[in-house]
Parts: sequence; structure tokens; C-alpha cells
Amino acid sequence: MRLILATHNEGKLREYRALLAGLPLELFSLADCASAAMPAEDGTSFAENALLKARHAHRLCPDDWAMADDSGLVVDALDGRPGIHSSRYAGELSSYEVKIGQLQAELAAASSPSRAARFVCVIALIAPDGREWTVEGRLVGEIGHSPRGSEGFGYDPIFWLPRIGMTAAELDPVYKNRISHRAKANRKIRQLLNQMLDENGLPQSPDSVL
Ligand code: IMP
Repeated sequence: MRLILATHNEGKLREYRALLAGLPLELFSLADCASAAMPAEDGTSFAENALLKARHAHRLCPDDWAMADDSGLVVDALDGRPGIHSSRYAGELSSYEVKIGQLQAELAAASSPSRAARFVCVIALIAPDGREWTVEGRLVGEIGHSPRGSEGFGYDPIFWLPRIGMTAAELDPVYKNRISHRAKANRKIRQLLNQMLDENGLPQSPDSVL
């Protein structure tokens, strides 16, 4: 079975190859089957954005399975911001120092004192016959008061994990890759792909969120 990942990012392709290792499938990126640009991510949720990227890959490579993901940081006191706009928050080209500064300023001005937050990753999968699935993984934590740690990327330095007593940027990257929102969504997609590969175990509900 061939699976096309809707990305032109080689790093993401490598990460998914490792996460899906052992399954009897060949994983390609869109760059391997078409050179077309990615669609604008103008959905209103992680699932919509993951689906619109996966549908794009499905249209370009209709004989293969298509997969795409979308992720971001959701902060309760900011009504879910930065959410699907996480990489564009405070301007697409701004550094994470600036994005984190803006997040702290917005949080200080928010009416709720809550610092609850979560990283969310949604993966969409489309079969050659058009059936669609989405799965979601979450890493729950809080927005810390000041950045700590130098591992990871993006918002990791201010993503505080109270039960561990560290920020995501202080975690061993191997450990983060086991507990992260991406790892959790990947475990679900692996399970789903395993079911697909077992002819007798095809899921009954095409649009179910696992
Ligand atoms: P994308 O899924 O690659 O589009 O990532 C969306 C954005 O969400 C990233 O650019 C980061 O700003 C943020 N993000 C997603 N996952 C993480 C994470 O594990 N750590 C820090 N930031 C993240």
C-alpha cells in the first residue's frame, strides 16, 4: 500500500517514516508524486486544515492513500488562540521570542486567570475510494510565566508540564516524542492503518474521530 503524506517538508516525512515503521506501506511525500503547491490552510479547525491538505493529495494521487496533519497550541483563556494560527501568530515571519512575548502579553490582559493550554495534533487519512478519517492527539499543560529550556521548537519553552515539573523545551526530545500530541495522534493512525491492512477489520464509521 502506498501512502502519500501531504507535505513538501522532508523532515516531516522522515518523522512519519520512523513513526509508522514496521507497517507494510510505502510512505511518499507530495513532492514524490506531484510538484503542485500546497493549498491555503484556510479551514476553521485543525481537522478542516488537515482534511483540506489530505484531499489535495488525494486529488493529485487518487490511486494512493493520502494523509496530512495540522497542529498548534490552544490556550483556554485566549478563546483557543493561537490555535490553527500558531505558526502565523504575531506575524508569519516573527520569531518565537516575539510570538511568546505576545502570548504572555495577551494572557496578562485576559479576563480569566487560567493558564491552561494544550498542544493539539490532528491527522487526516483518505482511502483511494474517498473514505475519510481524522484522529486527534493532545498534550495538556499550562503556559509558564517565563521561557525555560532549549530543546524542541516553537512554543515549547513556555509550555509547562505541571506533573513533570518541566517545560516541553526541558524534556529529553526522545521522551517528548513519546508523550507529544503528535505521538498520540500517530499511535491512533497506526492503529487505524493496521485495521485497514487487516481485511476483516475495516472500520464501519468513515468519519469517526477516534
Ligand atoms: P504544523 O502542524 O507543522 O503546521 O505546526 C503548527 C505550529 O504549531 C508550529 O509552527 C508551532 O508554532 C506550533 N506547534 C505545533 N506542535 C508544537 C510543538 O510540539 N512544540 C511547539 N510548538 C508546536
